[in-house]
Amino acid sequence: MAGTPFGYQPDPAAGSGDEETAPHLPADAVVDLAAARREAGIDEVLGRLNAELVGLAPVKTRIEEIASLLLVDRMRERYGITARRPTLHMCFTGNPGTGKTTVALRMADLLHRLGYLRRGHLVSVTRDDLVGEYVGHTAPKTKDVIKRAMGGVLFIDEAYYLYKVENDRDYGSESIEILLQVMEAHRDDLVVILAGYADKMDVFFAANPGMQSRIAHHITFPDYTVDELERIAVLMTDELAYRLSDDARLVLRSYLERRIGQPWFANARSVRNAMERARLRQARRLLDQDDPRVDLAALTTIEAADLLASRVFREDAHAKTVRSA
Ligand SMILES: Nc1ncnc2c1ncn2[C@@H]1O[C@H](COP(=O)(O)OP(=O)(O)OP(=O)(O)O)[C@@H](O)[C@H]1O
Ligand SMILES: [Mg+2]
Repeated sequence: MAGTPFGYQPDPAAGSGDEETAPHLPADAVVDLAAARREAGIDEVLGRLNAELVGLAPVKTRIEEIASLLLVDRMRERYGITARRPTLHMCFTGNPGTGKTTVALRMADLLHRLGYLRRGHLVSVTRDDLVGEYVGHTAPKTKDVIKRAMGGVLFIDEAYYLYKVENDRDYGSESIEILLQVMEAHRDDLVVILAGYADKMDVFFAANPGMQSRIAHHITFPDYTVDELERIAVLMTDELAYRLSDDARLVLRSYLERRIGQPWFANARSVRNAMERARLRQARRLLDQDDPRVDLAALTTIEAADLLASRVFREDAHAKTVRSA
């Protein structure tokens, strides 16, 4: 099974660590970890991760740990220690909109900067990209995806749909077989990240112990609190060069408190959608006003009314009238 033909040729200019032309350090030499961190740009990536992503403390801690491990590994290589590189296949579990895809992108970048991945790009796929509908269709599809992802991260969203418990002749298992081989044989040139809901992922792993055993890091993405959602909303408005008026800020809070308990709530994704709709309403409000002249403040401010027009408040009012009727 070795030497799976993905048409991938290792790049002699990068990767394995033994391309190092500098002589190994003597045993009594000292290396500066802080300088190595700076050179690899780790502080920059981790700093941005902290500044641009609200909450996610356990996720950030794990990323720091992985960064430290790889840095120490690199330093060991300078002394001539060529131990096997750590496996970095991961599983991200969490509800919709908790930041899994966003973090995977940053992880790809970080692993590239640390010299673990040649390219550091991310290929995001679902079952349909990997599994075919006819005999002989699945292997080429899966191999093509893997070929594209080599040197980077292969992100498989809702990975459990690869496997159908009720149908053991489903083509998904063929795809899983190929993935399992590649995750072992090309483990230092491809990082596979499986993503999805925790409970379905547990069922998937129970049915596919081979997959479970190849995952080095299980990372849980918690739901955001109202406080965190509020900070995410402010961050998003900032990024779009808007600001929330003081009143709008208060309304935002009560919007989030309501929205969080409603159907189809999708954490930060729902916040992004809400802010996009507020933007639409702000634009309409400006065009509808009697005086057509506006200044910069008007163009950049989301007012309470822009949020209050949301269905979230209407449904609440509707529920109240129904109850009192
Ligand atoms: N902690 C955070 N801070 C700021 N923005 C965030 C955070 N988490 C997610 N977002 C934003 O929320 C949106 C949804 O995030 P993302 O797509 O990464 O979630 P996901 O877990 O992959 O969701 P799904 O399961 O639906 O695919 C993105 O626009 C992202 O930028
Ligand atoms: Mg996603």
